[in-house]
Amino acid sequence: MTSEKESKNRYSQKQILAQLSNQQIKNIVKNNPQLARLASLLLTDTADEHIQALYKMNMDQISAILKLSHDPFIGNYPHSNPPTAFSSFIQLGKTSTDITAGIDLDQLCRNGIISGPTGSGKTTVLKHLLTKPDLLYRYRVVVIVRKKELRHLACVPEISPLTQTFTADDLAVSIMQPWQDGYHKQMINMLCRVIALSFNKFAAQNFLNEKLHQIVHHRPKGAYPTLSQIIEFVSQRNGEKYKYNYRREQLRESCLTSLKAIEDNLGAEMWNYSSSDMLRILFSTPGLAILELEGIDPQVLAFLSIYLMYWRYSCVQFFGRKSLSQIPALFVLDDATPCVQMQADKNAAGGIGPVGDIMTMSRSAGQGTIVIPHSLDNTSQPIIQNAGFIAVTASRGESPYKLKNILNINDEQLDYLRTMPQNEALLYNPRHFDLPILFKYPPFHCQNILSETQRKKSLQKFLQHVHIKPAVGPANGTQSSGSAGTGQIPQPATDMLKAVCNQPNLSVTALYRKAGLNAAQGVRTKKHLTDNGFAREFKYSTGLAGGMLSVLIVTAKGKKLIGHKHRPLTNGGPEHEMAAYAVGCDFDKAIWHLGYEVKISKSLRIDIAATNIQSRHRVFINIGISRAENELRHFLDYLASVNTADTSFILVCRDTRFRRQFLALLKKRPEWKKLRQKLRCTLVADYIKR
Ligand SMILES: Nc1ncnc2c1ncn2[C@@H]1O[C@H](COP(=O)(O)OP(=O)(O)OP(=O)(O)O)[C@@H](O)[C@H]1O
Ligand SMILES: [Mg+2]
Repeated sequence: MTSEKESKNRYSQKQILAQLSNQQIKNIVKNNPQLARLASLLLTDTADEHIQALYKMNMDQISAILKLSHDPFIGNYPHSNPPTAFSSFIQLGKTSTDITAGIDLDQLCRNGIISGPTGSGKTTVLKHLLTKPDLLYRYRVVVIVRKKELRHLACVPEISPLTQTFTADDLAVSIMQPWQDGYHKQMINMLCRVIALSFNKFAAQNFLNEKLHQIVHHRPKGAYPTLSQIIEFVSQRNGEKYKYNYRREQLRESCLTSLKAIEDNLGAEMWNYSSSDMLRILFSTPGLAILELEGIDPQVLAFLSIYLMYWRYSCVQFFGRKSLSQIPALFVLDDATPCVQMQADKNAAGGIGPVGDIMTMSRSAGQGTIVIPHSLDNTSQPIIQNAGFIAVTASRGESPYKLKNILNINDEQLDYLRTMPQNEALLYNPRHFDLPILFKYPPFHCQNILSETQRKKSLQKFLQHVHIKPAVGPANGTQSSGSAGTGQIPQPATDMLKAVCNQPNLSVTALYRKAGLNAAQGVRTKKHLTDNGFAREFKYSTGLAGGMLSVLIVTAKGKKLIGHKHRPLTNGGPEHEMAAYAVGCDFDKAIWHLGYEVKISKSLRIDIAATNIQSRHRVFINIGISRAENELRHFLDYLASVNTADTSFILVCRDTRFRRQFLALLKKRPEWKKLRQKLRCTLVADYIKR
């Protein structure tokens, strides 16, 4: 009865609508945003005959309203508000018809994706989510970021008591302490699996397993080896039956590179504890833990994220949810692109990348993950299939076919995603609506900045509850040279380290010359630095027959040793950083103004932008370390979005193979001719001082 009355009511409203001219519609929409909603009713109410008849009759007017409302998603909005009445609902924004858009709290035990190109507002959407006290009182949220941009969340009054910011050094974790006594075997299996998954070292898994069993076997009860001690033990050949087995040497090398990469990037400090209950305390209390890891290798980032996820997952598997006070966990991987790309699936032995693997498993353990990649079409399939919700802040240059399939959208909606304003995002949350909707969200404001002292103070409160035991001597009772080696570093090595920090673009031969060392002395000093994890050697092809140039890149451990503290120029890893510095040196500072990580439009960033002070000519430089397709897409975007009359482009390629791939790609289409004329490809080696 009531529905009949209601539909008559609507009928009369729409009859009025049908009489209006275009100008009148314009005015009405301007003054009455609810009208757009009316139009959506006309489209969606398929069960109502009157409405459908009217829709057919007034097609022109309705499409005019839809156009005026500038929202191609309007047909997707439901008639009534979603279940916002439940306290468990987290609002992210509102649609143009004033419907609340968001996610349910319990959905976060599953997985989610927030995707969009750089600068499109992914982190801003995340900030809106993380500042909801409802979430932080119920969940342990661990956010892993590569920048310091979330630090000020601790200054938001509603959540500041619940928030701590950690750096790698603050996380005092024993790498091999089992969840409970008697679970060594399981712990060792887990650690080996995590290392194998994140560094793609599946062949070496059994070797490492064997070695870890040996080292634990020789230890006193309750004392566990530190990472440095493990590295030292793995590199020793004493007492091995197969001393000169070539295959075993390869496996050893393979294990050592992974372990050393962890030590170099995260610093030995983090794992230098015999035991600590930090992770148990962390996962047994609700709140927000922000883990800031600046400029670390993507593989090590994957390792640490997976280690933490596996740690909690295994704990719940062995001892049940009660062991962690039943607190569900949410992991957030901001800037996660390298860990969740399709390539990760292709490289993995089981056909599913490390992050995808743990994400799909951990649903049963009350543990969810939100990954924040730059594009959806390049994100690993298992991750997309397991996502409970997908938010897209923008999409440019992504495969239209894939995107339409993933998000269930039409051509018009896809076009809209490309030109979407910064304060809008798409949300596909099938739990609430069958189809994706658009929502508006405000910029995130927080005036205060958390000082280092305040950060440490708030962290101290958390650390009060944690019992950390420092490392004990190694298995055989002698001093560990892994950590003790730091004190005995010879003077030439420290000098060389300082020289590399001051001028990272010197080739090793130039470095020896500068330090006044002959080749043999130079090699010895360099070996000392690389063996102890203070620096790593990288080789770059010069493009000349078989030519290679070596450079040293100082690791986090090395920087700490000499107290080198400079803000990184770019957001990339150490190799990217070195290349950015080297390219910068190529420009005469008196004529050129250099900017790093420059924002050239609201959503595009360039690694280096050089502007000639006199002629105002600009050179945009990108350092190509990822895939050739991505680099090409970036340049096409730059070309489309900036005035390029006085701008030229340079792509600095990692090696000749990458340059060949890129140039082959660029030749493929005639319409890229303009880019071909403006773009020059160079090699990193061109900028290295010999
Ligand atoms: N709703 C909004 N209205 C206006 N400006 C916004 C809005 N959301 C974000 N911005 C601005 O856009 C810029 C980039 O946002 P954000 O850092 O969230 O992007 P991102 O996608 O995380 O980029 P990256 O990939 O580099 O991490 C910020 O400076 C922010 O002020
Ligand atoms: Mg971001």
